[in-house]
Amino acid sequence: MKSEIQWEGRYAMRKAVLTLATSLAVFAGAAFAQDDSGRYEYMVACAGCHGESALGDGPLAELLKIDTPNLTTLASEKSDGTFPFEYVLWMVDGRKIIRAHGSAMPIWGERYQASATSQRGETAEMVARGRMLSLVYYLESIQQ
Ligand code: HEC
Repeated sequence: MKSEIQWEGRYAMRKAVLTLATSLAVFAGAAFAQDDSGRYEYMVACAGCHGESALGDGPLAELLKIDTPNLTTLASEKSDGTFPFEYVLWMVDGRKIIRAHGSAMPIWGERYQASATSQRGETAEMVARGRMLSLVYYLESIQQ
């Protein structure tokens, strides 16, 4: 009888540990996927100008007439240590903020919306916002 209780206890313990390990793995996986998708979007769409490390030194930057900004110092330079989330989102989107005359930045909001495909009922606008949000979260994560 005693050993049965012990066994049950051990079993419950093992089950709890396993459950915890599984949820941690799922959680880590989700966090990684989110960071990774922003980073992926960045490397594909932005690194050419802003540079792989976002220092403003991509291979295309030299060809532009205006300086390509460093995107790792947005928090320190623009808003006293706080990442200017909304500003960055609208700068990337480009549909609302009127950017400097002759801006080299494509209007990403428009591009992402035009290329969006819906598989589970999401609208093109949702897809575009999701991609831009993951980009902005990524930029926030690399502030120096
Ligand atoms: C063709 C080159 C080019 C590409 C590609 C590009 N940018 Fe830019 N970006 C610029 C330039 C040049 C500026 C300076 C201001 C302007 O032109 O509007 C800028 C400005 C910005 C700013 C405002 C920075 C500040 O200091 O105010 C952000 C944020 C930004 N870009 C993010 C991105 C993101 C995110 C991507 C990818 C989705 C991207 N850029 C792709 C050239 C580019």
